[in-house]
Amino acid sequence: MVRTSEAFDRLGDENAFAVLARAAELADQGRDIINLGIGQPDLRTPEHILEAAVRAIRDGHHGYTDPIGLLKLREAVCAHVAQRTGATVPADRVMIVPGAKMALLAAIMMFGEPGAEILYPDPGYPIYRSMIEFSGARAVPVPLRERNGFGVAAQDVLSLITPATRLVILNSPADPTAGVNSKTEVNRLVAGLLDHPGVAVLSDEVYDRMVYDGAEHVSLLSYPEIRNRLILVNGWSKTYSMTGWRLGWSIWPTSLTERCRRFAVNAWSCVNGPAQYAGIAALEGPQDCVDEMVAEFDKRRRVTVRLLASLPGVSCHNPQGAFYAFPNIAGTGWESAPLAEALLEQAGVALLSGSDFGPGGDGYLRISYAAPEEDIRKAVTRIGEFLSEH
Ligand SMILES: Cc1ncc(COP(=O)(O)O)c(C=O)c1O
Repeated sequence: MVRTSEAFDRLGDENAFAVLARAAELADQGRDIINLGIGQPDLRTPEHILEAAVRAIRDGHHGYTDPIGLLKLREAVCAHVAQRTGATVPADRVMIVPGAKMALLAAIMMFGEPGAEILYPDPGYPIYRSMIEFSGARAVPVPLRERNGFGVAAQDVLSLITPATRLVILNSPADPTAGVNSKTEVNRLVAGLLDHPGVAVLSDEVYDRMVYDGAEHVSLLSYPEIRNRLILVNGWSKTYSMTGWRLGWSIWPTSLTERCRRFAVNAWSCVNGPAQYAGIAALEGPQDCVDEMVAEFDKRRRVTVRLLASLPGVSCHNPQGAFYAFPNIAGTGWESAPLAEALLEQAGVALLSGSDFGPGGDGYLRISYAAPEEDIRKAVTRIGEFLSEH
């Protein structure tokens, strides 16, 4: 019998991928499945981005690049970030990664070890807790509450900081709740963190362009007072419909960049060249594709929320960001996981149980409305019929 490390026994999962596989399996069997499970835009990557990658392949950009990414791409990230947040970041503080997820792994492995504590949002993206536990650190959940619109409450974070706390993970706009952290609470949090200079901050802002109803995305980069301990994670996956390209960016304090470079050299050597050229085209090219996608999501968001709220026993807070609805199903008499499973197996609707995102997600479902409106309408009708019959 082979013996593997205990760390691998502690790895969690992202159920979205299991649901995606099961939905494909049922569809292959001839079932009519509507997929509102996985979190990715349904639109094609814009044409000018595709062209840049094709050109890069034809021009022979098939070799290794700088482990932290092409300088031209990192400079494009800096220009983009300066335009959006006003922060001046030198290109040597940017690390290009094969998907934002890899920057999360790098940061969590850099700070996590037995005896350390890392704070993460609950409900939240399941990879945070999984990676924290993988690192050996203690995963400390920060509750996000529906009554606060699922935005973070500064006091909740600050009250959980102990001498063992190394890192605080923030995510806004948030997966799965679609909550957006308010400027007031972020101001309070940053002010409170000044009393804890040894605590680093990991801000996952992959949904930063997707905010609605006048909500404002507040980037942690706009706080110079914590910039020397801030790791900012973002990327192309959601914004430019590039989930399968595996391309993300991250910004690190100067004191940590050499560790980043070494991690990249050990783990992935470099991100594939054509994807990096596509990334340059995305950031430097026209941005109307993003605006149009977000406007389309906004339309679908309104439809989704209105239809969900009309279902028996279901209520739905107004999602302010990302492309998820997070309906509360407490009034249906169902628990989240069995309902999500029954909806897939019996009603042909793939979505996720809120409990896939931590105990705080019990009593909710996550529905991605990054899908054609017709599919959303059909799916909610099926959910309604299922709930009436069961
Ligand atoms: C909050 C959050 N962070 C990171 C990621 C991963 O992004 P990427 O595809 O760039 O690795 C996701 C994807 O679902 C996400 O929801």
